[in-house]
Amino acid sequence: MSLVFDLVIFGGTGDLSLRKLLPSMYAAFRQKEIDPQSRIFVCCRKQSDFDTLFQQVETAIKTYIADEAFDEAALKQFSKIIVPTKMDLVDKSQGWEEFANSLLKHSDRVRVFYLAVMPSIYGSCCKNLHECHLISTTSRIVVEKPLGYDQQSAEEINQVMADYFTESQIYRIDHYLGKESVQGLLALRFGNFIFENIWDCKSIDHIQINISEIVGVEDRAAFYDEAGAMRDMVQNHLLQLLCLVAMDSPDRNEADDIRIEKIKVLKALKPITEAEIDQYVVRGQYVSGQVEGQDVKSYADELKNTKTQTETFVAVKAYLENWQWAGVPFYLRTGKRLARRSAEIVVQFKNVTHNIYSKSISHIQPNRLLIQLQPEEKIRLTLMAKNDKKDGNPLREITLNLDMSEKDRQVKPLAYQRLLLDVIKGNAALFIHRDEVSLAWKWIDPIIKAWKDNDDSLEYYKAGTMGPKKADKLFKKQGQTWFDYQA
Ligand code: BG6
Repeated sequence: MSLVFDLVIFGGTGDLSLRKLLPSMYAAFRQKEIDPQSRIFVCCRKQSDFDTLFQQVETAIKTYIADEAFDEAALKQFSKIIVPTKMDLVDKSQGWEEFANSLLKHSDRVRVFYLAVMPSIYGSCCKNLHECHLISTTSRIVVEKPLGYDQQSAEEINQVMADYFTESQIYRIDHYLGKESVQGLLALRFGNFIFENIWDCKSIDHIQINISEIVGVEDRAAFYDEAGAMRDMVQNHLLQLLCLVAMDSPDRNEADDIRIEKIKVLKALKPITEAEIDQYVVRGQYVSGQVEGQDVKSYADELKNTKTQTETFVAVKAYLENWQWAGVPFYLRTGKRLARRSAEIVVQFKNVTHNIYSKSISHIQPNRLLIQLQPEEKIRLTLMAKNDKKDGNPLREITLNLDMSEKDRQVKPLAYQRLLLDVIKGNAALFIHRDEVSLAWKWIDPIIKAWKDNDDSLEYYKAGTMGPKKADKLFKKQGQTWFDYQA
């Protein structure tokens, strides 16, 4: 069924809008999920952006949509639902009246305001929307990281929005939750009896969540140097993935039930104190090296600041203090300029309790479930099976492919496409509650503070490797090591 709505993108000619939001909306339009009567208000402040807006939108779609998903005729039709809008988000005398009149022509429609702008102007946007009578029961607001710099600043941002919108109208995006394999993980966990009974510390040895990137800081050096990998990736994407993998079964597949379970996970995170930090956390920064055969500069050189202490790599061993996960380590790792681009969750089960084949169990590998989010989205289960080779081993490792069929794969939506359509439909299951943001910061803040107090904690790693060697030392048990994904 196609949807009729008004979507307003504040910051419409910015990076997020051009790279992700508009291409995703185009993809949904092409797949007939959007009714042609809908409107997308692409807001900008500069006259030059306004003059070239259609051209910018078309170029972005051609650039960021895969060739096989591109269709010139659909793009022409899609352009008709774009409403270029020149306005100043802070100054209500600049463009707001016309904008409001246009929106109010369809007062009964679902109205989505996407704030693809700095949090410092969320307050003015919300106030102006309120004063122009644009906030109704069918209005929603969408924001995404950075949601603060620490727990206190995040609370302030959340409060600014809460002054004008109810919590159920606020959609906080984490684009990792829109990736299809995340849906695959939930379907696997909550749709199968066999997993229901083995998803805890009795059966699982440890879990790894890895997001490695080959890119450096690109054109975001100033922002990144203030944030670092802990704020940029761990506080949000990695902890959200941790929540989904560790949460108990929600009563229903609905936003409120899922959020309750995710909040329980975040509350159960064992705090890492300053004294323990060396045992549980490793942070690093890349020096020059080679990535995919190309020489790349060090982070400090990219930044033109040799004194920078910002981490571009983090590895954490986290524990949850509850019955389900007692004693199970969750290894989180992320970094820039690493050897490969990949994102995966690996669930390693315990080994068989008794080996009937020989005295040594070394050739029985523990079962492993791999949920790959990038570069491809796939799910694999590794098991032991009978070995037909005459090499003396009774068993061999086999990998089952638990992916969707090839046919289903072709219609796989983009992460933002799925999330934006969910906002329009009012389905908040994949969005983050205010309390989740706050609890994630509460766990992160003391770690960042401890680093600040101890400059020596920064390890250096060569670009093109998988990070500092010290990260391997987080594993204390034999047989535990970073899972090395090979495509
Ligand atoms: C963003 C971070 O949230 O996620 C970036 O700010 C990072 O630093 C990006 O590169 C990674 O997302 P993806 O989907 O490309 O893995």
